[in-house]
Amino acid sequence: MTGTGPSSADTPPPGCPAHQGAVRLGGLEYQQTPSQLYRTLRREHGPIAPVLLDGDIPAWLVLGYAEVSYVTSHDELFARDSRRWNQWPHIPEDWPLLPFVGYQPSVLFTEGEEHQRRAGVITEALEAVDQFELARDCQAIADELISSFAGSGRAELMSAYAHTLPARAVVQVCGMPLGGEDTHRLVDDLRISLDAAEGEDPIAAYGRVGSRLTQLVKEKRERPGPDVTTRMLQHPAGLTDEEIVQDLISVIAAAQQPTANWICNTLRLLLTDERFALNVSGGRLSVGEALNEVLWLDTPTQNFIGRWAVRDTQLGGRRIEAGDCLVLGLAAANTDPQIWPEAHVGAENAAHLSFSNGEHRCPYPAPLLADVMARTAVETLLERLPDLVLAVEPEELTWRPSIWMRGLTALPVEFTPVVQ
Ligand code: HEM
Repeated sequence: MTGTGPSSADTPPPGCPAHQGAVRLGGLEYQQTPSQLYRTLRREHGPIAPVLLDGDIPAWLVLGYAEVSYVTSHDELFARDSRRWNQWPHIPEDWPLLPFVGYQPSVLFTEGEEHQRRAGVITEALEAVDQFELARDCQAIADELISSFAGSGRAELMSAYAHTLPARAVVQVCGMPLGGEDTHRLVDDLRISLDAAEGEDPIAAYGRVGSRLTQLVKEKRERPGPDVTTRMLQHPAGLTDEEIVQDLISVIAAAQQPTANWICNTLRLLLTDERFALNVSGGRLSVGEALNEVLWLDTPTQNFIGRWAVRDTQLGGRRIEAGDCLVLGLAAANTDPQIWPEAHVGAENAAHLSFSNGEHRCPYPAPLLADVMARTAVETLLERLPDLVLAVEPEELTWRPSIWMRGLTALPVEFTPVVQ
Protein backbone atom coordinates (compact mmCIF):
# COMPACT_ATOMS: atom_id res chain seq x y z
CA MET A 1 0.00 0.00 0.00
CA THR A 2 1.46 3.33 -1.01
CA GLY A 3 -1.42 5.77 -0.47
CA THR A 4 -1.07 8.92 1.56
CA GLY A 5 -3.68 8.18 4.20
CA PRO A 6 -4.09 5.23 6.51
CA SER A 7 -6.31 2.52 5.13
CA SER A 8 -8.40 0.19 7.21
CA ALA A 9 -7.85 -3.52 7.03
CA ASP A 10 -10.41 -5.38 4.92
CA THR A 11 -11.13 -7.92 7.60
CA PRO A 12 -10.64 -7.45 11.30
CA PRO A 13 -9.10 -10.40 13.12
CA PRO A 14 -11.71 -12.98 14.08
CA GLY A 15 -13.35 -12.49 17.46
CA CYS A 16 -11.94 -9.03 18.01
CA PRO A 17 -14.71 -6.44 17.99
CA ALA A 18 -12.33 -3.78 19.33
CA HIS A 19 -10.33 -4.10 16.15
CA GLN A 20 -13.15 -3.29 13.75
CA GLY A 21 -11.67 -0.80 11.30
CA ALA A 22 -8.14 -1.42 12.54
CA VAL A 23 -5.27 0.07 10.57
CA ARG A 24 -2.68 -2.22 9.03
CA LEU A 25 0.50 -0.86 10.54
CA GLY A 26 2.68 -3.07 8.35
CA GLY A 27 1.20 -1.45 5.25
CA LEU A 28 2.02 2.07 6.35
CA GLU A 29 5.76 1.72 6.16
CA TYR A 30 5.86 3.44 2.79
CA GLN A 31 4.41 6.56 4.34
CA GLN A 32 6.85 9.37 3.71
CA THR A 33 5.12 11.90 5.96
CA PRO A 34 4.28 10.16 9.22
CA SER A 35 3.10 13.37 10.91
CA GLN A 36 0.12 13.46 8.51
CA LEU A 37 -0.48 9.79 9.08
CA TYR A 38 -0.57 10.19 12.86
CA ARG A 39 -2.86 13.21 12.56
CA THR A 40 -5.30 11.18 10.48
CA LEU A 41 -5.11 8.21 12.83
CA ARG A 42 -5.75 10.48 15.81
CA ARG A 43 -8.72 12.09 14.09
CA GLU A 44 -10.25 8.74 13.20
CA HIS A 45 -9.43 6.76 16.33
CA GLY A 46 -8.51 9.14 19.16
CA PRO A 47 -5.33 8.72 21.22
CA ILE A 48 -5.36 4.89 21.08
CA ALA A 49 -5.74 3.37 17.61
CA PRO A 50 -6.51 -0.30 16.95
CA VAL A 51 -3.82 -1.55 14.57
CA LEU A 52 -2.81 -4.77 12.88
CA LEU A 53 0.83 -5.79 12.95
CA ASP A 54 2.37 -8.03 10.27
CA GLY A 55 0.14 -11.03 9.60
CA ASP A 56 -2.89 -9.07 10.88
CA ILE A 57 -2.00 -9.55 14.53
CA PRO A 58 -4.00 -7.01 16.60
CA ALA A 59 -2.33 -4.42 18.83
CA TRP A 60 -2.94 -0.87 20.06
CA LEU A 61 -0.98 2.14 18.85
CA VAL A 62 -0.70 4.72 21.63
CA LEU A 63 -0.68 8.11 19.89
CA GLY A 64 -1.26 10.67 22.66
CA TYR A 65 1.52 12.32 24.67
CA ALA A 66 -0.46 11.94 27.90
CA GLU A 67 -1.34 8.32 27.09
CA VAL A 68 2.27 7.29 26.23
CA SER A 69 3.41 8.97 29.45
CA TYR A 70 0.71 7.11 31.39
CA VAL A 71 1.45 3.70 29.88
CA THR A 72 5.20 4.00 30.43
CA SER A 73 4.84 5.17 34.02
CA HIS A 74 2.38 2.46 35.11
CA ASP A 75 4.36 -0.78 35.00
CA GLU A 76 1.83 -2.44 37.25
CA LEU A 77 -0.69 -2.12 34.38
CA PHE A 78 1.49 -2.14 31.27
CA ALA A 79 4.53 -4.37 31.63
CA ARG A 80 7.48 -5.30 29.47
CA ASP A 81 7.62 -9.12 29.51
CA SER A 82 6.28 -10.10 26.09
CA ARG A 83 5.36 -13.59 27.34
CA ARG A 84 2.20 -11.90 28.66
CA TRP A 85 0.92 -11.52 25.10
CA ASN A 86 -2.47 -13.07 24.37
CA GLN A 87 -1.60 -13.45 20.66
CA TRP A 88 1.24 -16.00 20.93
CA PRO A 89 -0.97 -18.87 19.63
CA HIS A 90 -1.33 -16.91 16.36
CA ILE A 91 2.31 -15.96 15.86
CA PRO A 92 4.14 -17.99 13.19
CA GLU A 93 7.74 -19.10 13.76
CA ASP A 94 9.05 -16.87 10.99
CA TRP A 95 7.09 -13.77 12.06
CA PRO A 96 9.15 -10.72 10.99
CA LEU A 97 8.77 -8.87 14.31
CA LEU A 98 9.98 -11.80 16.43
CA PRO A 99 13.51 -10.38 16.84
CA PHE A 100 11.95 -7.37 18.65
CA VAL A 101 9.11 -9.07 20.48
CA GLY A 102 10.30 -12.62 21.17
CA TYR A 103 11.22 -12.93 24.85
CA GLN A 104 14.93 -12.92 25.64
CA PRO A 105 16.43 -13.09 29.12
CA SER A 106 17.85 -9.55 28.80
CA VAL A 107 17.22 -6.29 30.66
CA LEU A 108 14.68 -5.36 27.98
CA PHE A 109 12.11 -7.96 29.05
CA THR A 110 12.65 -8.03 32.81
CA GLU A 111 10.22 -6.45 35.23
CA GLY A 112 10.11 -5.12 38.81
CA GLU A 113 13.07 -5.81 41.09
CA GLU A 114 14.85 -7.95 38.52
CA HIS A 115 14.67 -5.05 36.06
CA GLN A 116 15.99 -2.63 38.68
CA ARG A 117 18.92 -4.98 39.31
CA ARG A 118 19.80 -5.36 35.61
CA ALA A 119 19.12 -1.73 34.61
CA GLY A 120 21.01 -0.49 37.68
CA VAL A 121 24.16 -2.31 36.56
CA ILE A 122 23.90 -0.85 33.05
CA THR A 123 23.21 2.65 34.36
CA GLU A 124 26.23 2.62 36.67
CA ALA A 125 28.50 1.10 34.02
CA LEU A 126 27.45 3.79 31.52
CA GLU A 127 27.62 6.59 34.08
CA ALA A 128 31.35 6.00 34.48
CA VAL A 129 31.99 6.60 30.76
CA ASP A 130 34.11 9.75 30.51
CA GLN A 131 32.26 12.00 28.06
CA PHE A 132 35.42 13.88 27.04
CA GLU A 133 37.20 10.64 26.23
CA LEU A 134 34.16 9.45 24.31
CA ALA A 135 34.11 12.70 22.31
CA ARG A 136 37.83 12.32 21.57
CA ASP A 137 37.37 8.70 20.45
CA CYS A 138 34.37 9.64 18.30
CA GLN A 139 36.44 12.38 16.72
CA ALA A 140 39.19 9.85 15.88
CA ILE A 141 36.63 7.45 14.38
CA ALA A 142 35.00 10.32 12.46
CA ASP A 143 38.39 11.46 11.11
CA GLU A 144 39.26 7.96 9.92
CA LEU A 145 35.90 7.49 8.20
CA ILE A 146 35.98 10.95 6.58
CA SER A 147 39.54 10.35 5.35
CA SER A 148 38.35 7.20 3.59
CA PHE A 149 36.08 9.23 1.27
CA ALA A 150 37.37 12.84 1.50
CA GLY A 151 39.54 12.51 -1.62
CA SER A 152 36.66 11.47 -3.87
CA GLY A 153 34.47 14.55 -3.45
CA ARG A 154 31.35 12.47 -2.85
CA ALA A 155 29.97 10.02 -0.32
CA GLU A 156 26.86 8.21 0.77
CA LEU A 157 26.85 9.24 4.41
CA MET A 158 24.39 6.71 5.79
CA SER A 159 26.57 3.69 5.04
CA ALA A 160 30.00 5.36 4.95
CA TYR A 161 29.59 7.38 8.14
CA ALA A 162 26.43 7.55 10.24
CA HIS A 163 26.01 3.81 10.71
CA THR A 164 29.59 2.94 11.46
CA LEU A 165 30.54 5.74 13.86
CA PRO A 166 28.20 4.96 16.78
CA ALA A 167 28.70 1.21 16.34
CA ARG A 168 32.48 1.54 16.63
CA ALA A 169 32.21 4.02 19.49
CA VAL A 170 29.86 1.83 21.51
CA VAL A 171 31.76 -1.45 21.11
CA GLN A 172 34.89 0.43 22.09
CA VAL A 173 33.23 1.82 25.22
CA CYS A 174 32.36 -1.80 26.01
CA GLY A 175 36.05 -2.75 25.86
CA MET A 176 36.77 -3.78 22.26
CA PRO A 177 40.13 -2.45 21.03
CA LEU A 178 40.03 0.82 19.06
CA GLY A 179 40.25 0.25 15.33
CA GLY A 180 41.22 -3.46 15.49
CA GLU A 181 40.23 -5.90 12.73
CA ASP A 182 38.25 -7.79 15.30
CA THR A 183 36.29 -4.65 16.25
CA HIS A 184 35.51 -3.89 12.61
CA ARG A 185 34.24 -7.44 12.08
CA LEU A 186 31.99 -7.14 15.14
CA VAL A 187 30.64 -3.81 13.87
CA ASP A 188 29.93 -5.35 10.49
CA ASP A 189 28.17 -8.34 12.06
CA LEU A 190 26.11 -5.96 14.17
CA ARG A 191 24.99 -4.11 11.06
CA ILE A 192 24.10 -7.37 9.31
CA SER A 193 22.17 -8.71 12.29
CA LEU A 194 20.16 -5.48 12.67
CA ASP A 195 19.82 -4.53 9.03
CA ALA A 196 20.97 -7.21 6.57
CA ALA A 197 21.52 -6.34 2.92
CA GLU A 198 20.49 -8.76 0.19
CA GLY A 199 22.46 -12.01 0.39
CA GLU A 200 23.60 -11.44 3.99
CA ASP A 201 22.53 -13.80 6.77
CA PRO A 202 21.31 -11.87 9.86
CA ILE A 203 20.93 -14.97 12.03
CA ALA A 204 24.50 -16.15 11.41
CA ALA A 205 25.74 -12.60 12.03
CA TYR A 206 23.77 -12.38 15.30
CA GLY A 207 25.37 -15.68 16.36
CA ARG A 208 28.84 -14.25 15.68
CA VAL A 209 28.00 -11.10 17.70
CA GLY A 210 26.96 -13.32 20.63
CA SER A 211 30.16 -15.42 20.39
CA ARG A 212 32.42 -12.37 20.21
CA LEU A 213 30.74 -10.73 23.20
CA THR A 214 30.93 -14.00 25.18
CA GLN A 215 34.65 -14.03 24.44
CA LEU A 216 34.92 -10.34 25.44
CA VAL A 217 33.30 -11.08 28.82
CA LYS A 218 35.82 -13.94 29.37
CA GLU A 219 38.71 -11.67 28.39
CA LYS A 220 37.54 -8.96 30.78
CA ARG A 221 37.20 -11.44 33.65
CA GLU A 222 40.86 -12.30 33.14
CA ARG A 223 42.11 -8.82 32.25
CA PRO A 224 39.82 -6.10 33.64
CA GLY A 225 39.94 -2.67 31.97
CA PRO A 226 38.37 0.79 32.21
CA ASP A 227 35.29 -0.26 30.23
CA VAL A 228 31.56 -0.98 30.51
CA THR A 229 32.00 -4.77 30.40
CA THR A 230 34.50 -4.79 33.28
CA ARG A 231 32.27 -2.52 35.35
CA MET A 232 29.30 -4.82 34.75
CA LEU A 233 31.43 -7.82 35.81
CA GLN A 234 32.61 -6.07 38.96
CA HIS A 235 29.21 -4.71 39.98
CA PRO A 236 28.02 -5.95 43.41
CA ALA A 237 24.70 -7.11 41.86
CA GLY A 238 26.70 -10.16 40.72
CA LEU A 239 25.29 -10.69 37.22
CA THR A 240 26.24 -13.99 35.59
CA ASP A 241 28.37 -14.00 32.44
CA GLU A 242 25.29 -15.02 30.42
CA GLU A 243 23.29 -12.10 31.81
CA ILE A 244 26.12 -9.71 31.00
CA VAL A 245 26.39 -10.99 27.41
CA GLN A 246 22.61 -10.57 26.95
CA ASP A 247 22.69 -7.05 28.35
CA LEU A 248 25.77 -6.05 26.35
CA ILE A 249 23.93 -7.11 23.20
CA SER A 250 20.92 -5.04 24.32
CA VAL A 251 23.06 -1.98 25.06
CA ILE A 252 24.96 -2.14 21.78
CA ALA A 253 21.88 -2.79 19.65
CA ALA A 254 19.82 -0.15 21.52
CA ALA A 255 22.60 2.39 21.00
CA GLN A 256 23.62 1.80 17.42
CA GLN A 257 20.56 2.16 15.20
CA PRO A 258 18.87 5.14 16.88
CA THR A 259 22.12 7.08 17.17
CA ALA A 260 22.98 6.37 13.51
CA ASN A 261 19.58 7.64 12.40
CA TRP A 262 19.80 10.63 14.73
CA ILE A 263 23.07 11.61 13.01
CA CYS A 264 21.68 11.14 9.51
CA ASN A 265 18.33 12.82 10.17
CA THR A 266 20.18 15.81 11.65
CA LEU A 267 22.52 16.05 8.65
CA ARG A 268 19.47 15.95 6.38
CA LEU A 269 17.89 18.83 8.31
CA LEU A 270 21.10 20.87 8.21
CA LEU A 271 21.52 20.29 4.48
CA THR A 272 17.93 20.97 3.46
CA ASP A 273 16.54 23.66 5.76
CA GLU A 274 17.68 27.22 5.22
CA ARG A 275 17.30 28.08 8.91
CA PHE A 276 20.41 25.94 9.36
CA ALA A 277 22.29 27.13 6.24
CA LEU A 278 25.68 25.62 6.64
CA ASN A 279 28.05 27.98 4.95
CA VAL A 280 26.91 31.21 6.53
CA SER A 281 28.09 31.96 10.01
CA GLY A 282 26.22 34.09 12.52
CA GLY A 283 22.56 34.24 13.36
CA ARG A 284 21.89 30.71 12.20
CA LEU A 285 20.44 27.92 14.26
CA SER A 286 23.09 25.65 15.74
CA VAL A 287 23.91 21.96 15.41
CA GLY A 288 22.55 21.49 18.94
CA GLU A 289 19.23 23.01 17.89
CA ALA A 290 19.10 20.77 14.83
CA LEU A 291 19.77 17.67 16.95
CA ASN A 292 16.96 18.66 19.30
CA GLU A 293 14.53 19.48 16.50
CA VAL A 294 15.09 16.02 15.00
CA LEU A 295 14.17 14.40 18.30
CA TRP A 296 10.85 16.26 18.20
CA LEU A 297 10.01 15.93 14.51
CA ASP A 298 11.96 13.02 12.98
CA THR A 299 12.75 10.93 16.01
CA PRO A 300 14.72 7.76 15.21
CA THR A 301 12.62 5.33 17.29
CA GLN A 302 9.30 6.53 15.92
CA ASN A 303 7.33 3.56 17.25
CA PHE A 304 8.46 1.11 19.90
CA ILE A 305 7.00 -2.31 20.63
CA GLY A 306 6.09 -2.30 23.43
CA ARG A 307 4.15 -3.00 26.58
CA TRP A 308 1.67 -5.76 27.46
CA ALA A 309 -1.42 -5.21 29.61
CA VAL A 310 -1.11 -6.97 32.97
CA ARG A 311 -4.90 -7.08 33.47
CA ASP A 312 -8.10 -5.79 31.88
CA THR A 313 -8.11 -2.02 32.05
CA GLN A 314 -9.17 1.19 30.29
CA LEU A 315 -7.00 3.59 28.35
CA GLY A 316 -7.98 6.67 26.36
CA GLY A 317 -11.60 5.49 26.26
CA ARG A 318 -10.63 2.01 25.03
CA ARG A 319 -11.11 -1.27 26.79
CA ILE A 320 -7.73 -3.03 26.93
CA GLU A 321 -7.69 -6.73 27.75
CA ALA A 322 -5.09 -8.58 29.78
CA GLY A 323 -2.25 -9.61 27.49
CA ASP A 324 -2.99 -7.00 24.78
CA CYS A 325 0.06 -5.47 23.12
CA LEU A 326 0.59 -1.70 23.10
CA VAL A 327 2.94 -0.03 20.64
CA LEU A 328 4.41 3.22 21.98
CA GLY A 329 3.83 5.86 19.29
CA LEU A 330 6.73 8.09 20.30
CA ALA A 331 6.74 10.22 17.13
CA ALA A 332 2.97 10.69 17.32
CA ALA A 333 3.18 11.65 20.99
CA ASN A 334 5.87 14.25 20.25
CA THR A 335 3.61 15.99 17.74
CA ASP A 336 0.37 15.59 19.72
CA PRO A 337 -1.82 18.71 19.15
CA GLN A 338 -2.76 18.51 22.84
CA ILE A 339 0.77 19.69 23.68
CA TRP A 340 1.14 21.90 20.59
CA PRO A 341 -2.29 23.56 20.35
CA GLU A 342 -1.10 26.22 17.91
CA ALA A 343 -0.49 23.52 15.27
CA HIS A 344 3.17 24.47 15.49
CA VAL A 345 5.64 22.03 16.98
CA GLY A 346 8.35 23.97 18.74
CA ALA A 347 11.64 22.41 19.68
CA GLU A 348 12.82 24.63 22.46
CA ASN A 349 13.06 22.06 25.20
CA ALA A 350 13.77 18.37 25.73
CA ALA A 351 10.32 17.28 26.93
CA HIS A 352 9.88 14.95 23.94
CA LEU A 353 9.30 11.23 24.49
CA SER A 354 12.02 10.11 22.06
CA PHE A 355 13.90 8.31 24.83
CA SER A 356 10.56 7.05 26.21
CA ASN A 357 9.66 7.42 29.87
CA GLY A 358 9.36 5.48 33.13
CA GLU A 359 11.26 2.45 34.42
CA HIS A 360 12.25 1.11 31.00
CA ARG A 361 13.12 4.43 29.42
CA CYS A 362 16.49 4.74 27.72
CA PRO A 363 18.70 4.53 30.83
CA TYR A 364 19.73 7.93 32.18
CA PRO A 365 23.33 8.30 30.91
CA ALA A 366 22.56 6.80 27.47
CA PRO A 367 20.90 9.88 25.94
CA LEU A 368 23.91 11.96 27.02
CA LEU A 369 26.30 9.49 25.40
CA ALA A 370 24.16 9.45 22.26
CA ASP A 371 24.36 13.24 22.25
CA VAL A 372 28.17 13.18 22.48
CA MET A 373 28.38 10.68 19.60
CA ALA A 374 25.87 12.47 17.36
CA ARG A 375 27.16 15.98 18.03
CA THR A 376 30.79 14.95 17.45
CA ALA A 377 29.84 13.09 14.27
CA VAL A 378 27.94 16.08 12.81
CA GLU A 379 30.38 18.79 13.90
CA THR A 380 33.49 16.90 12.75
CA LEU A 381 31.98 16.26 9.34
CA LEU A 382 31.03 19.93 8.87
CA GLU A 383 34.44 21.11 10.01
CA ARG A 384 36.34 18.74 7.72
CA LEU A 385 34.08 19.24 4.67
CA PRO A 386 32.76 22.79 5.04
CA ASP A 387 31.23 23.05 1.54
CA LEU A 388 29.26 19.81 1.90
CA VAL A 389 25.97 19.83 -0.05
CA LEU A 390 23.36 17.26 -1.03
CA ALA A 391 24.17 15.41 -4.25
CA VAL A 392 20.45 15.07 -5.09
CA GLU A 393 17.41 17.31 -4.80
CA PRO A 394 15.96 17.25 -1.25
CA GLU A 395 12.71 15.69 -2.61
CA GLU A 396 14.71 12.77 -3.96
CA LEU A 397 15.79 11.66 -0.49
CA THR A 398 13.69 8.71 0.61
CA TRP A 399 12.86 7.42 4.06
CA ARG A 400 13.36 3.75 4.82
CA PRO A 401 10.18 1.74 4.50
CA SER A 402 9.89 1.07 8.22
CA ILE A 403 7.21 2.04 10.68
CA TRP A 404 9.66 1.41 13.56
CA MET A 405 12.89 3.31 12.79
CA ARG A 406 12.80 6.68 11.02
CA GLY A 407 15.86 7.01 8.86
CA LEU A 408 16.92 7.66 5.29
CA THR A 409 17.70 4.93 2.78
CA ALA A 410 20.73 6.99 1.70
CA LEU A 411 22.23 10.46 2.15
CA PRO A 412 24.36 11.20 -0.95
CA VAL A 413 26.52 14.33 -0.64
CA GLU A 414 29.27 16.10 -2.56
CA PHE A 415 32.05 18.49 -1.59
CA THR A 416 35.40 19.75 -2.84
CA PRO A 417 37.75 16.75 -2.76
CA VAL A 418 40.34 17.03 -0.02
CA VAL A 419 43.90 16.10 -0.97
CA GLN A 420 45.45 14.28 2.00
C1 HEM B 1 19.28 8.76 19.63
C2 HEM B 1 19.68 7.78 20.40
C3 HEM B 1 18.74 6.91 21.20
C4 HEM B 1 17.37 6.86 21.22
C5 HEM B 1 16.39 7.69 20.39
C6 HEM B 1 17.00 5.84 22.18
C7 HEM B 1 15.70 5.49 22.48
C8 HEM B 1 15.34 4.44 23.31
C9 HEM B 1 14.00 3.99 23.51
C10 HEM B 1 12.77 4.58 22.85
C11 HEM B 1 14.04 2.95 24.37
C12 HEM B 1 12.85 2.09 24.81
C13 HEM B 1 12.36 2.49 26.17
C14 HEM B 1 11.14 1.79 26.61
O1 HEM B 1 11.00 0.54 26.58
O2 HEM B 1 10.24 2.50 27.08
C15 HEM B 1 15.44 2.75 24.73
C16 HEM B 1 15.88 1.79 25.59
C17 HEM B 1 17.20 1.55 25.86
N1 HEM B 1 18.27 2.27 25.38
FE1 HEM B 1 18.22 3.88 24.18
N2 HEM B 1 18.13 5.31 22.72
C18 HEM B 1 19.23 5.93 22.16
C19 HEM B 1 20.56 5.71 22.44
C20 HEM B 1 21.01 4.79 23.34
C21 HEM B 1 22.40 4.60 23.68
C22 HEM B 1 23.57 5.43 23.13
C23 HEM B 1 22.45 3.57 24.58
C24 HEM B 1 23.62 2.96 25.28
C25 HEM B 1 24.85 3.42 25.28
C26 HEM B 1 21.08 3.12 24.80
C27 HEM B 1 20.72 2.09 25.66
C28 HEM B 1 19.42 1.69 25.88
C29 HEM B 1 19.06 0.55 26.73
C30 HEM B 1 20.02 -0.38 27.48
C31 HEM B 1 17.66 0.46 26.72
C32 HEM B 1 16.80 -0.56 27.46
C33 HEM B 1 16.29 0.03 28.76
C34 HEM B 1 15.41 -0.90 29.55
O3 HEM B 1 14.63 -1.69 28.98
O4 HEM B 1 15.47 -0.82 30.77
N3 HEM B 1 20.24 3.89 24.05
N4 HEM B 1 16.21 3.69 24.07
